[in-house]
Amino acid sequence: MSGRLADEVVLVTGAARGIGGAVAAKAAEEGAAVALLDVLADELAATTAALEQTGARVAAAVGDITDEHAVRRSVDLLVAELGPVTVLVNNAGRNAYADATAMTVAEWDSVFDVDLKGAWLMARQVLPSMIAHRHGSIVNIASIHSQLTTAGMFPYAAAKSGLVGMTRSLALDVARHDIRVPTSPAPTGP
Ligand SMILES: NC(=O)c1ccc[n+]([C@@H]2O[C@H](COP(=O)([O-])OP(=O)(O)OC[C@H]3O[C@@H](n4cnc5c(N)ncnc54)[C@H](O)[C@@H]3O)[C@@H](O)[C@H]2O)c1
Repeated sequence: MSGRLADEVVLVTGAARGIGGAVAAKAAEEGAAVALLDVLADELAATTAALEQTGARVAAAVGDITDEHAVRRSVDLLVAELGPVTVLVNNAGRNAYADATAMTVAEWDSVFDVDLKGAWLMARQVLPSMIAHRHGSIVNIASIHSQLTTAGMFPYAAAKSGLVGMTRSLALDVARHDIRVPTSPAPTGP
């Protein structure tokens, strides 16, 4: 396979649909082997089948990024099929439209588990191999709500702001291993 990502194994979370599905398709188009992870088994199977039709090397795992055991199982399965992950795209996420005075602790935790903790659990799982090979990138999909937000998006903006903070922190900590954790979008023009 040729292309800018020909030597990469790109793992995308939340890859069954939406932005994650598009990222996986683009990575495959650029020659990467793509590892798809999502909780939605049927949609994941359909997305995987569509990518396989293009001739891409694809593997899929049904797993929940908020569950450390599922993260370990899923990454192990994907690595067994495609080899070590060299690019992690932490895309899985969820919106939240809660009322700060009525939201329960369980609801708060479920937002932060998906939008923040899951990205760390995924990074924790793939980083040892990236560090060993001195090669890798971790891309965290945050949101404009980490910078500006609108009424009624509680606590999505808080979780996505946390994700931006975690991105900065991780970037500094793993740079010495030649691993990139980009902290802002790539420039598209002057
Ligand atoms: N759509 C937008 O306008 C927009 C804007 C800014 C940022 N984002 C961010 O981009 C990302 C993708 O958004 P989207 O619009 O494609 O969303 P989407 O809801 O269409 O897709 C999200 C995917 O993540 C999966 N997912 C959710 N929780 C999961 C979990 N615990 N474990 C594994 N998979 C899980 C879902 O099953 C789904 O397939 C999210 O992080 C979102 O916050 C989206």
